[in-house]
Amino acid sequence: MPHFPTDLHDNGTTVMTHSNVVGGLGRPRPTGPLGPRAGMTAPALLFWLFAIALFVLPFLQQKADASFGLGDPRSKALWASEDTPFNELDLPYWERVAAVQERIGESLEGDLRQSIEEASELYFGIETKEQKLRNSGVIEWERLAAGHETYNEVCAGCHGGTLWSNSVPGDGAGPAARYMEPRPRNFRKGLFKFSSTQSGQRPMHKDLYKVVSYGLAGASMPHFKLLTEERRWDVVEYVRYISLRGEFEELFLTFTEDDEELADAEEVAEIVNSRWHPDKLSSVFPSTPETANDEASIARGRELYVGAKAGCNGCHGDTGVGDGPSADAFKDGWGYPIKPRDFTGGVYRAGSENGDLWVVIATGINGTPMGAFKAVLTSDEIWDIVHFVRSLEKTEGN
Ligand code: HEC
Ligand code: HEC
Repeated sequence: MPHFPTDLHDNGTTVMTHSNVVGGLGRPRPTGPLGPRAGMTAPALLFWLFAIALFVLPFLQQKADASFGLGDPRSKALWASEDTPFNELDLPYWERVAAVQERIGESLEGDLRQSIEEASELYFGIETKEQKLRNSGVIEWERLAAGHETYNEVCAGCHGGTLWSNSVPGDGAGPAARYMEPRPRNFRKGLFKFSSTQSGQRPMHKDLYKVVSYGLAGASMPHFKLLTEERRWDVVEYVRYISLRGEFEELFLTFTEDDEELADAEEVAEIVNSRWHPDKLSSVFPSTPETANDEASIARGRELYVGAKAGCNGCHGDTGVGDGPSADAFKDGWGYPIKPRDFTGGVYRAGSENGDLWVVIATGINGTPMGAFKAVLTSDEIWDIVHFVRSLEKTEGN
């Protein structure tokens, strides 16, 4: 392979214009990673009726209020470029595969979709004989059956699974998904927002466990404290598995398209596998203890916030309500419009401690325009900005 394309998981603007990061709605897939599914049980059906009433209705309301909604041509027009064929934005995976087949089919031997399915099955199939990857310690295979069961019961309605949505599993296009903003995560890009790891890295087990246990405040991702801890770890493992497998399929397609020849499956599998290896991942912690949270720190934080070095106000606005000059222009790494956070609400998804804010500012939010500031700000400067951001929260009596 002559070159590797840009990593799928860059922060910042590169990720938003790259055609390979655009997510999409689902389309039937003949077999899932675990073979045929069982039918939906009555309790599961009841759960979904209830969940849809609980989560979807408020979002319908919210959508009507939004300044521009999903599918508004203005939001897409901003990101269409000459090398991103306009009508391919948001296309489901297998449709993108078909488009590539059509474009470079002559230089490929045989059917691209079939090649991808075979390669995916060989390296990541649940029954795979490819022991090298299977035994590499990346996936705890024995958790997958239970994780898959929980996933289909309580996650697939939003995150997508073959049972309800006829989509590629985990592509974020469950039947409840289209009314949500932000959309449920498409797991098939290996791209996660709220992890404790370095910018661009995959999340650790504990990061996903935290999301499942506490949900994401201000988004329609609920908490699952009522699942036993064991079931939470199982479903985390299943999410890692479909992410890794989805990422393999995405990268295989990108390499094939870029090089105009069938990608080397083993090479792609090894790249993806090593990105997810737990030994390669570690959490980022504040590198100095928190400074005093006083008026002086807040004032320094304000200077930095509007200054050239950090320039947070360009997106989050001078008063922190998320209305900076560039705020309307963004699309996330899954192809949907995204707004900078309004700080006056005091709601943070990565965690609500000052230390959580330090980490999110230092490492950024993957797949969004919110970049990593560790390289441009000192640790103490980040603490000052944390204090300033918190001072914008409108609490009672404020
Ligand atoms: C009612 C809909 C809904 C259900 C049910 C749901 N999620 Fe989510 N989930 C979301 C939304 C919406 C987001 C995206 C939030 C965002 O982008 O800020 C999300 C995001 C996530 C993320 C991504 C976090 C990150 O750092 O990027 C994970 C992991 C996740 N969900 C796991 C699960 C698991 C596991 C289940 C089942 C146990 C589940 N979700 C059930 C709606 C849902
Ligand atoms: C290029 C635009 C942009 C710039 C510059 C930017 N942000 Fe953001 N920021 C965003 C977007 C978009 C989000 C929302 C991400 C999401 O919802 O997933 C966000 C989210 C956040 C959050 C919420 C994290 C959470 O856990 O929910 C914090 C805190 C934050 N930004 C702080 C800052 C600070 C401080 C700066 C300057 C050092 C900054 N941002 C610069 C775009 C930006």
